[in-house]
Amino acid sequence: KKKTSMAVVLYLLYSLFSFVQGLDRSDFPDSFLFGTATSSYQIEGAYLEGNRGLSNWDIFSHIPGNIKDGSNGDIADDHYHLYMDDIELMQSLGVNSYRFSISWSRILPKGRFQEANQVGIDFYNKLIDALLLKGIEPFVTLYHYDIPQYLEDKYGAWLNPEIQKDFGYYAEVCFREFGDRVKYWATFNEPNVIIKKGYLVGTYPPLRCSAPFGECLSGNSSVEPYVAAHNLILSHATAVEVYKKKYQAKQGGTIGIVMSTTWYEPLQNSTADWLATNRLLAFDVPWFLDPIILGDYPSEMRQMLGFNLPTFSYEDKLKLRYKIDFIGVNHYTTLYVKDCLYSLCETTGYDGNAFVFTTGERNGLPIGTPTAMPTFYVVPHGLEMMVNYIKERYNNIPMFLTENGYAQGVSNNTSARDFVNDVDRVDYLSKYLGSLLKTIRNGADVRGYFIWSLIDNFEWLYGYTLRFGIHYVDFTTQERTPKLSAMWYKEFLRGSGSLL
Ligand code: NOJ
Repeated sequence: KKKTSMAVVLYLLYSLFSFVQGLDRSDFPDSFLFGTATSSYQIEGAYLEGNRGLSNWDIFSHIPGNIKDGSNGDIADDHYHLYMDDIELMQSLGVNSYRFSISWSRILPKGRFQEANQVGIDFYNKLIDALLLKGIEPFVTLYHYDIPQYLEDKYGAWLNPEIQKDFGYYAEVCFREFGDRVKYWATFNEPNVIIKKGYLVGTYPPLRCSAPFGECLSGNSSVEPYVAAHNLILSHATAVEVYKKKYQAKQGGTIGIVMSTTWYEPLQNSTADWLATNRLLAFDVPWFLDPIILGDYPSEMRQMLGFNLPTFSYEDKLKLRYKIDFIGVNHYTTLYVKDCLYSLCETTGYDGNAFVFTTGERNGLPIGTPTAMPTFYVVPHGLEMMVNYIKERYNNIPMFLTENGYAQGVSNNTSARDFVNDVDRVDYLSKYLGSLLKTIRNGADVRGYFIWSLIDNFEWLYGYTLRFGIHYVDFTTQERTPKLSAMWYKEFLRGSGSLL
C-alpha cells in the first residue's frame, strides 16, 4: 500500500514537472545530439603539466587587475586529472555527446616551430577514448580563445598572415591524431568575440583597442580588427581545406565553425534604429559567415568601411571554396540597439564599428528578466529569431546549438545549497529549448543542443564569480554536486513516462 501511494505521489509530482517543462527528448529527432559544453582553459587547470606551453590567457589572467576576483585558470576544475569523474557526470545525465576544446598550447607549445608534444596528444586520446567507451560523441573545438603565447610574441598572432600556416599546421596535427574518432570539428569558437573583445574594445588579450571612440583609449590603428578577422577567416579556411582534401573522405567526419549570436531588436521603432539593428547584425555573425559561406564580406560592412576592410585575393577565394558542413550557434540573449550614426550616444555599451549602442532596457524596462551576467537577459523568443535569421541567410545549412546557459552570481552570503537549487536555470533552459523546438518544427535543420556548462568553471573576466555549471563545483575540494538543472536535464533526456 505504502509503495503504491508513494508511486502516486511521484507520478503526480512528475506530471506537474513535465507539465511545467512541457517537452522532452522524444519531441526532438532521434539522431539529435544532446550534450554539455566546456573549453580547455576554463576547466583543465594543470597549466604547467605535461609539457604544456603558456597561452595568452595564462599571461593575461596573471596580471593583477585583469580578472574580477584576481583568479586564473591555473587549477580551475582540475579536469586534466579529474576527466574520468567528469565523464561519469555525463554518463549519469544520459547525454550522447560532449563539446570540449583542445588546448593548442598542450599540442604545439611553440606552434609549428617545434615537434608536437606527445604528452598533450596522449591526454586528448585518453579523453576521447573514454568518452566513446560510454557512447558519448566528442564534438571538438580547435580554438576556444587560447593561443600559445609564443605565437603572440613571435609575430603578433592574428595580426600576421603567418598565423594561417600555424593554425593549418595545428589543425592537421589534430585531424591526424584524433580524426579517426572525432566526427565533429569546429575550427573556432566565437571568432566575432575574439576579434571584438581582443582588437576593437580591448578587454580580452591581446588588449588591442581601436574603436573610433568610447571605450577605446589606446588609439591603435583602426584597421586592426579587420586585419585580424581577415587572417582568422583565412586560417579557418586553411584548416577546412586540409580537412576536406586529405581527411574527410577517409575519416568521414564533418567540420564547421561556432559563432556567438545575440539577437537584436531596435530600441525605438524608428528608421534610424531599424537600420542600426541591421547594421549591427551584419557586423557580427555575417562578418565571418558571409565570407566563409557566401564568399565575401557583407555589403553593409563594405559600405561603412570602404577599403579599411581587406579584400580577398584570387588565392584566398580558391581556399574559401571548401565549404563548412555546419554552423555552431552559441546563443544566450537579446539586446536593444540604438543608432549612433545620426544621433549622439553614451560611450558605455557603444559598439564601435557599427556605430550603435546596445542596451537591455527600454524606458527603464528590461527586454527580459535580467541575470547575473550584466548583458544577459532572458528572452527565449530571441533564440527562434536568431536561428531563423541564420537559416534564411545561409540557406538552412545544418546547425548545432553549441551553447546555451544561465549564470548564477556569487555573493558573500550565497551557499552551495542556493546554487544547487537552481530553479531559475531550469526555467531558462526549458524555455529556450521550447523556442528551439519551434524552429525545428518550422523546418530549421538543427541537429544538436549543448548546455553551457557541464560544471562551474573559470568565466573569463569574471573569474569564478559567475557559475554556469549544471553541476556545482567546490573549488577547494574539487567536489562536483549535481544541481537541480542536472536532474532536470536527466529527466528530460530519459523521456516522458520513464520515471515510473
Ligand atoms: C561563450 C563562450 O564560448 C564561453 O567560453 C563562455 O564561458 C560562455 N559563453 C558564457 O559566457
